[in-house]
Amino acid sequence: MVRSYASDPVDPGLVDRALSNATRAPSAGFSQGWAFLVLDTPADVRRYWEVTADDVDDPDEWLSGMMRAPVVIIPCSSKAAYLRRYAEADKGWTDQDEARWPMPFWHMDAAMAALLILQTATDAGLGSCFIGVPTPRVDAVRAEFGIDPEYDPVGVVTIGHPADGGAAGSPTRRPRKPVTDVVHRGRWGGRGGHQASPSA
Ligand SMILES: Cc1cc2nc3c(=O)[nH]c(=O)nc-3n(C[C@H](O)[C@H](O)[C@H](O)COP(=O)(O)O)c2cc1C
Repeated sequence: MVRSYASDPVDPGLVDRALSNATRAPSAGFSQGWAFLVLDTPADVRRYWEVTADDVDDPDEWLSGMMRAPVVIIPCSSKAAYLRRYAEADKGWTDQDEARWPMPFWHMDAAMAALLILQTATDAGLGSCFIGVPTPRVDAVRAEFGIDPEYDPVGVVTIGHPADGGAAGSPTRRPRKPVTDVVHRGRWGGRGGHQASPSA
């Protein structure tokens, strides 16, 4: 993740490619209940920071680095789209009962789409960062940009050319967990890590 950007513009073709890739994310039942609010003019980007930050005129280091990103994309998810899709004949959940869902797939799918945006930026040598919309500001973001009431912003992706090393975050202060700590083979607490290679 990059949190300090140069002011250089981002190729609009790259943004289009990132959005096209986002729509290739997997989605439950191919519901595709996602939408992407794209802010790619200085005025629109500024509007985002004005409604979400108190200190746009006196930004701290994090905010001033982030505010220079020329592109902000807000991936959104629609729970209603998934409930409707799964009420169709091939799925049959006609009661549209949310309790049927083991996970909020609407948010998961939008998050996977967001990852494709991040990866597209990285592949192009650009920087990007996923952040959340501050909870007390979600309604203001909805109002400012006229977000459809059926859709929820799942977060924000900034895209731009990295500056100052990109202002790396927590990974510079916290160790990455070893694979062996997070993988559980066969049962939780069982042998983790890499599959043993077959012995001769
Ligand atoms: C759901 C989510 C929320 C995040 N929120 C923030 C944030 O508010 N501020 C920030 O600087 N980084 C945020 N990040 C970026 C993480 O800090 C970053 O991904 C993590 O430290 C790993 O660093 P890396 O992505 O550079 O490997 C967020 C990432 C995710 C996935």
